[in-house]
Amino acid sequence: MADPQPPEQHVDPWNVQGGEDGRIDYNKLVEQFGCSKLTEDLIARIEKATGKPAHPFLKRGIFFAHRDLADLLDCYEKGVPFYLYTGRGPSSEALHLGHLVPFMFTKYLQDAFNVPLVIQLTDDEKTLWKGLDINESRRLARENAKDIIACGFDISKTFIFSDFEYVGGAFYRNIVQIQRCVTMNQVRGIFGLGMEDYIGKIAFPAVQAAPSFPDTFPHMFGARKDIRCLIPCAIDQDPYFRMTRDVAPRIGHQKPALIESRFFPALQGEGGKMSASDTNSAIFTNDTPAQIKTKINKYAFSGGCTTTQEHREKGANLEVDVPWKYLNFFLEDDKALEHIGKEYASGRMLTGEIKAELIKVLSDLVARHQQTRAAVTDDVVDAFMAIRPMAAVADGKA
Ligand code: TYM
Ligand code: TRP
Repeated sequence: MADPQPPEQHVDPWNVQGGEDGRIDYNKLVEQFGCSKLTEDLIARIEKATGKPAHPFLKRGIFFAHRDLADLLDCYEKGVPFYLYTGRGPSSEALHLGHLVPFMFTKYLQDAFNVPLVIQLTDDEKTLWKGLDINESRRLARENAKDIIACGFDISKTFIFSDFEYVGGAFYRNIVQIQRCVTMNQVRGIFGLGMEDYIGKIAFPAVQAAPSFPDTFPHMFGARKDIRCLIPCAIDQDPYFRMTRDVAPRIGHQKPALIESRFFPALQGEGGKMSASDTNSAIFTNDTPAQIKTKINKYAFSGGCTTTQEHREKGANLEVDVPWKYLNFFLEDDKALEHIGKEYASGRMLTGEIKAELIKVLSDLVARHQQTRAAVTDDVVDAFMAIRPMAAVADGKA
């Protein structure tokens, strides 16, 4: 028998698996997927176009890849309107911190560019993939909408929809046009789906593709096709939009542009993304301070040394240290972050101490989120999900 092969890195919308050393090689991913690296130059252009400082997620390389972003900025500068599109597959009661990454970033983009936003809740996807009861998926979609709204989106420019409630009309017509362009062979190549998969799974990618086209939302954009689309998401969603971009010109639409992030890693380390189906891998927006403290102390993978003496001598390995990685996402103060990095790498700061810093940062973040979410009533959810004209947007004078 041949020697067992080292595991190959694998990333698709449902599974993320690190490569040989257990980690994800993002350069390789960019190459494999055929997207582009986000350069300093593009970040500077975003600052110039918006007149606002770049979000820390941009400056720290957390959003690190894109498709056609330069082209979208060219258009924006010439006054061509665009909208933002992102989404969530409601598979758990609450979002975890990894899910907050694209939504926090989308909130920044909405404010900075002053553009409309559509947010898809793929309750149908989770029924198909997770075997969730239809009504349970619909319920989770509304619960998740509260977490999303708590990120601070502007109700006058934001439409949140559930597939089970909103698919039909112009949306469904776009779905079928897309379905007519993609063969079973292509779905197998892009998503790894095969003959044993339910036909619902094979047809679903068109449902996630359709919101990339403005005429899917007649109450917002009428029948216009000139409005561009920018999709912020983690890089696991790229396959959906590779397919979308391939189909777009064939049905008379423009390709959506993308801006893509790395994964907020699992507590256990870089090998995977934080996942809602493994509660010990993730910190959720509804965790208590005590749960956050226990999870970090017990599970957060440490790049520090096992004994204090050895740690003082050799210092911590930041490359694999989860508390350090988490602070890079959520500690806003650049100076404080730099200081912690130096102290910890040199061994002057101990693992227990960096974990204490992280516990403070994340408990504050989660407490603030919970407070805002408590104010999001069912009426507020209904208002965000109402099919309504967005007048300030449609006339191009937002
Ligand atoms: P879902 O619910 O798996 O994830 C929601 C969003 O969070 C991103 N994400 C992460 N980002 C950073 N670190 C992580 N550990 C992490 N895990 C998930 C995802 O990339 C996504 O942006 N099919 C989609 C729902 C969807 C969608 C979209 C997403 C529909 N239309 C358009 C983005 C753009 C899903 O199940 O996402
Ligand atoms: N208000 C923004 C601007 O003036 C963007 C915008 C205007 C827009 N009209 C739009 C976006 C219509 C989408 C659709 O640039």
